[in-house]
Amino acid sequence: MAELRVSPVTIQKALDTLVRDGVLDARPGLGTFVAEPPPAETAAPADLAWQSLALGPARASAAGLAGLLALPSPAARTLNVAYLPEEMQPTALIAAASARAVRRPGIWGRMPAEGLPALRAWFAARTDHAYHPREVTVCPGTQAGIAAAFRALAAPGEPLLVETPTYLGALAAAHAAGLRVVPVPTDAEGVRPDLLREAFQRSGARLFYCQPTFSNPAGTVLPPERRRAVLEAAALAGAFVVEDDWARDFAIDGDPPPSLASADRDGHVVQVRSLTKCAAPGLRVGAICARGAALERLRQARMADDFFVPGILQETALELVSAPGWARHLRALRSGLRQRRDALAAAVRRHLGPEALPRLPAGGLHLWVALPPGVSDLAVEQRAALRDILVTAGRHWHPAEAAGAFLRLSFATADPAWVEPCMAALAEVVREVELVPTR
Ligand SMILES: Cc1ncc(COP(=O)(O)O)c(C=O)c1O
Repeated sequence: MAELRVSPVTIQKALDTLVRDGVLDARPGLGTFVAEPPPAETAAPADLAWQSLALGPARASAAGLAGLLALPSPAARTLNVAYLPEEMQPTALIAAASARAVRRPGIWGRMPAEGLPALRAWFAARTDHAYHPREVTVCPGTQAGIAAAFRALAAPGEPLLVETPTYLGALAAAHAAGLRVVPVPTDAEGVRPDLLREAFQRSGARLFYCQPTFSNPAGTVLPPERRRAVLEAAALAGAFVVEDDWARDFAIDGDPPPSLASADRDGHVVQVRSLTKCAAPGLRVGAICARGAALERLRQARMADDFFVPGILQETALELVSAPGWARHLRALRSGLRQRRDALAAAVRRHLGPEALPRLPAGGLHLWVALPPGVSDLAVEQRAALRDILVTAGRHWHPAEAAGAFLRLSFATADPAWVEPCMAALAEVVREVELVPTR
């Protein structure tokens, strides 16, 4: 302390860090010692080649997902994230909620496998009472719900219908479940019901994964007549529809339409949603809602995965959504997202041309930006990353050949301070790629 002129607190922190890093060894009652250095690596490197034989060919790839989950450098201008940036998360509310939750007796104990009753009731109410609280199972985020639904409602080798383009995390979950993905084309209004009916017929599928409201990535909203047609097609095929209602709280222009689940009487729709999107990605609390035998299958699948969602997360979620500030947060979100969507869209149209973005999404988190014909989306993604601009190539979202090249740009993380120069730089990248002859 005397030599470095620092406080005892600083020294203690430094010692704790060195112990954590394995440089020092603190032995209670004896003192603090310099730790034994780790053995030098003199032996031959391990031979891991046997693993390739044991594992056989790769069954599933989550490469696109790994790119999305990678943490950006602080300098990056991030446009490839499907969560709220920290400044739009209700961090003070979550801190207060978790402080209250952690004091609850039994908080680190076992929880009901299907979730806390009050939280299930809250999620049920958010479905406009399409589901009864007993039909809700709490799960750690929508991804877990989607993965459980794919495994519980279809057997390996069976077909799964998906919109194309669709959420790449759902594609990764489908591959991991051994399902055969069958793409169904979409247009500006979402999935085409005529082709959906045909896909059910041709493939014999009994499962369709669908985002009817502010789809990721294209931002489409299925109009009421198509919603009816989707439910009819599912009923005719005797199939389930997994409705990923992830973006209901991200309506910007007007209110979102009623969910598919709200018009489903006979248990065709299994709905997933979560708080990770409208609160914070680390608040991994979501719900999977289903009726009948499907509910039982899903519950079994969830239990086999990880027993139950930790009490600290469930209680924090309950405290958060019951706080008076929660409704205020959702309102602030709407105006914040509108501002960011409009600023990014204006910059895209200015620098990449109006044809790059013919329509504004009425909600959600993303712009689906068309690239000029012949420009490789992957080359743009890679070259933009070299300039610290993170975007996602459209091809990752297509389970089959894409009709044109696209970029998905997330507007929630688009800071108005850098949007304009960032889009100017992205347009330069697009022009560079345009000049590279394609093979
Ligand atoms: C459409 C869609 N569904 C589900 C998820 C997964 O979200 P969660 O964090 O709730 O698992 C995402 C995340 O990006 C998404 O975009």
